Amino acid sequence: MGGEGSDDSSVVARSRLAVLSAHLSACLESNAFAPILESSPVSAQITTGNNDKGLKLYDPGYLNTAPVRSSICYIDGDEGILRYRGYPIEELAESSSFLDVAYLLMYGNLPSQSQLADWEFAVSQHSAVPLGILDIIHAMPHDAHPMGVLVSAMSALSVFHPDANPALRGQDLYKSNTVRDKQIVRILGKAPTIAAAAYLRMAGRPPVLPSSNLSYSENFLYMLDSLGDKSYKPNPRLARVLDILFILHAEHEMNCSTAAARHLASSGVDVYTALAGAVGALYGPLHGGANEAVLKMLNEIGTVDNIPEFIEGVKNRKRKMSGFGHRVYKNYDPRAKVIKKLAEEVFSIVGRDPLIEVAIALEQAALSDEYFVKRKLYPNVDFYSGLIYRAMGFPTEFFPVLFAIPRMAGYLSHWRESLDDPDTKIMRPAQVYTGVWMRHYIPAQERMSSTGAVVDKLGQVSVSNATKRRLSGSGV
Ligand SMILES: CC(C)(COP(=O)(O)OP(=O)(O)OC[C@H]1O[C@@H](n2cnc3c(N)ncnc32)[C@H](O)[C@@H]1OP(=O)(O)O)[C@@H](O)C(=O)NCCC(=O)NCCS
Repeated sequence: MGGEGSDDSSVVARSRLAVLSAHLSACLESNAFAPILESSPVSAQITTGNNDKGLKLYDPGYLNTAPVRSSICYIDGDEGILRYRGYPIEELAESSSFLDVAYLLMYGNLPSQSQLADWEFAVSQHSAVPLGILDIIHAMPHDAHPMGVLVSAMSALSVFHPDANPALRGQDLYKSNTVRDKQIVRILGKAPTIAAAAYLRMAGRPPVLPSSNLSYSENFLYMLDSLGDKSYKPNPRLARVLDILFILHAEHEMNCSTAAARHLASSGVDVYTALAGAVGALYGPLHGGANEAVLKMLNEIGTVDNIPEFIEGVKNRKRKMSGFGHRVYKNYDPRAKVIKKLAEEVFSIVGRDPLIEVAIALEQAALSDEYFVKRKLYPNVDFYSGLIYRAMGFPTEFFPVLFAIPRMAGYLSHWRESLDDPDTKIMRPAQVYTGVWMRHYIPAQERMSSTGAVVDKLGQVSVSNATKRRLSGSGV
């Protein structure tokens, strides 16, 4: 994609330009093209005159569209910079805690010592989930994907908290900071508890109640591993590693799932449903599942000796190198640098994963190869995180859950920001219509059946033998 002089990309570019120029000429012909630029600190809004249908930008994937202004997160992909509220991610990962960072994202500044203590207390006080949620999780198949469980449980929280539902309590409900704060601490508190219940369900074990005198990450590990023994304490170094991973995954501006959260929230729906939709977007393998692909790739490569052949395959476009390249970062992903160092810490406790040698050698080989250098392809956040998660004993399908728990802080801070932004409007992108212009209804008996390979029609719906057995019986 996007290769210099590549035929495909020039065709795509030409067709996009054609759509744009068609709109521009329509505007000019109607004499209504009077663009108004309203200056703002970071962007300009282009509006057309009142008498035309407006200027539309055909922008698949929203590559050039910024539907919001945000002060939460800054990324400079060329320089490899990531900052939360102005703080470099490296400093936060080094010195902060996940809940410290979550407060920063939510309210704009790092909390004072007493604010932090109140915040930690409030989150821990809301970490228990209603019994009905645990029943829902219990009712799922034993092999349910934990992200499917998380999406369902988040959505179900909406019905367990009717007090927080604008559809029931009125559209102005979220104007109240008290109501907002309550939902924020509820979601941050309950996310690890739901995730732990999903994990324990996979392992065939009963859910464990949260503990209120442990840190956020310690409590999560406690729920996974204590088997209900209240005196159990997780390894503090592993808990710290997990906390740093939570910090690194907490926020990443308008990525697919955060954009989904803001999109849903813009309709005024309750925050649980909005976040269930966001977690749904994160479930997709292009978003939250890439680290799993890295592990598969490293396993396939197997040993350092096989790297040159693998790199040749990538260069010959037989496959992509998972965990490399990024839509925004055209430099080393700053999170990947921190994660690479964390891997050694984890290995010193649980033993070295032999695939780390393959990963390091693969990175070195790629970074010194012209194919990757020219295209600015560097390791992204997923390149090393899967190895850490695996070394910590998490099954691969649980990796996106470990991403989703901290990302709740990002979603919630965007939700909060959108509620205060006077520019917030229901998100309703436009489209470029390419269908049949106009035709008239024909009764079914007069219609010719469509033939030809290119016609879109209902194909063969497979019928199982169980259905055939039922249909072959009487009374059907
Ligand atoms: C993340 C990703 C989807 C970004 O895509 P994008 O911004 O649309 O970038 P493009 O696909 O246009 O890539 C630009 C060029 O680099 C190449 N490229 C990008 N990522 C590559 C990879 N991982 N391996 C090999 N080549 C890659 C593309 O083939 C393209 O080459 P070309 O110009 O010769 O055609 C892409 O880098 C990728 O698929 N990476 C692997 C999956 C992954 O790790 N995802 C997690 C992201 S956090």
